[in-house]
Amino acid sequence: MNQHSSTADPVDGPGPAPSRAAAPSAHGATRWWRDAVIYQVYPRSFADGNGDGMGDLAGARARLPHLAALGVDAVWLSPFYASPQADAGYDVADYRTVDPVFGTLDDAGALIAEAHRLGLRVLVDVVPNHSSDRHAWFRAALAGDPAARARYHFRPGKGPDGQLPPNDWESVFGGPAWTRESPDGEWYLHLFAPEQPDFDWDNPAVRDEFRSVLRFWLDLGVDGFRIDVAHGLVKAPGLPDTGRTGQVELLGSAPLPFFDQDGVHDIYRSWRRVLDEYPGERIGVAEAWTPDARRTALYVRGDELHQAFNFHYLNAGWDAGELRAVVDESLGSLGAVGAPSTWVLSNHDVVRHRTRLGGGSGRARAATLLMLALPGSAYLYQGEELGLPEVTELPDAARQDPSFFRDNGQDGLRDGCRVPLPWEESGPSYGFGPGGSWLPQPAGWGALSVAAQTGDPHSTLELYRTALRLRRERPELGDGEPLEWLHAPDGVLAFRRGSFVCTANTAAEPRELDAAPGEVLLAGGPAEGAGAVGGAVLPGDTTVWWARG
Ligand code: GLC
Repeated sequence: MNQHSSTADPVDGPGPAPSRAAAPSAHGATRWWRDAVIYQVYPRSFADGNGDGMGDLAGARARLPHLAALGVDAVWLSPFYASPQADAGYDVADYRTVDPVFGTLDDAGALIAEAHRLGLRVLVDVVPNHSSDRHAWFRAALAGDPAARARYHFRPGKGPDGQLPPNDWESVFGGPAWTRESPDGEWYLHLFAPEQPDFDWDNPAVRDEFRSVLRFWLDLGVDGFRIDVAHGLVKAPGLPDTGRTGQVELLGSAPLPFFDQDGVHDIYRSWRRVLDEYPGERIGVAEAWTPDARRTALYVRGDELHQAFNFHYLNAGWDAGELRAVVDESLGSLGAVGAPSTWVLSNHDVVRHRTRLGGGSGRARAATLLMLALPGSAYLYQGEELGLPEVTELPDAARQDPSFFRDNGQDGLRDGCRVPLPWEESGPSYGFGPGGSWLPQPAGWGALSVAAQTGDPHSTLELYRTALRLRRERPELGDGEPLEWLHAPDGVLAFRRGSFVCTANTAAEPRELDAAPGEVLLAGGPAEGAGAVGGAVLPGDTTVWWARG
């Protein structure tokens, strides 16, 4: 029953393997994305094939069997395009070329083909809000070409000699969102680093170019796109002052003239038409930081994108009330437009959830099992299946995150979740590659490696494998049965989905349930907790999955 024969491209191989999610809809579509588990590969830190200390596409391809064995449905690759790497590849100089640091276009094709052979779909990043300052268009703009300048936001400065920025916008990375092109020239807008000039999306040439970029990668066989800063492309007419001072909050509730403008939706409607030209339900996923779930839902209306990241869930504390409110709001708002909710705990921009939530590996495992039991689709970030903590003690000299170097930078901490993965217990860079690693790996990294955890029934890796297998096998999970909250003691979240029950104790102390909801399927508390659970007492920081008789 392979409903995934989506991908008709010659490099595709037989196409991704079927999963429960592959049941065709009334319209013959698979709707695979409605409950997919999508694993983020951050290429520079995943696996290094050539030993230069930087991960690459060949290294990633060689490690794909790990992802197939883990049981995920798809892989999302962060940018590997030609880039001066001012923001780890989120500054793209050529959208149709692979950076030599990561390999070649042939390596990208080979990775896609191998992923499909293993039953994994592939999403790639597209970065449409800004280019690199080394992009041919921006270089032409700086050289004075009027057509090229019109593709970016150039403005005269304020003050007698134009020495003040055109408005009061702040960069997400700290400092003004404007840089002057020359001592007596105009200023250009960059919501992120100065090396990342923002495109002017009112310009039809920009719109045409990105539809063409999408087609380029779709033709190569990708199954969809993660859209970087999807909420930022359109700016309010006239670029009005915010009237605020200080750092931009990505998840603030105040409307801002450069985020979440209604005009972005026309762009995604036109992108959806491009995606729909291709067979096999190629998808678009918005990285959209919006004030609330109702605004997020606008990005996933029927004629726009398929998914949007749920940063409200990521930002919720490990607190039953807070989590329940976000879950209800997400399911309600996204359900109202017919879209699945997504859930995420970690990515390359935030402190790893094992560290962020406090409470060590037990709490992180509990959080993961809760997430994987919720209706919809889930995103995993490489290394969370190993229970990796944030690396908090990187020497300043090793840091590369541009936000670290800007005044009042966002948090300066993004390098700590980007430390290369440990694959082996020992050896050069713990199996990351035959050379070193671009960020230093902490001592003890080997004990967390894939090799060290494989086969250990108490390991985080085996917990993820089992959870993903059960999630695939049990029809209630994923996009299956609706969620129904059950009565539970303080600090405990309990819900059922058909004959499946999930109980998550967010308190640090044990809590007594009225009765055991059924047979234990899986327990995600402290490693030794799995065997200890079985009665009606739920240990602290533990999630248990149950099957009702
Ligand atoms: C997104 C990316 C982040 C990057 C920024 C600018 O938020 O996830 O890593 O720095 O966009 O492209």
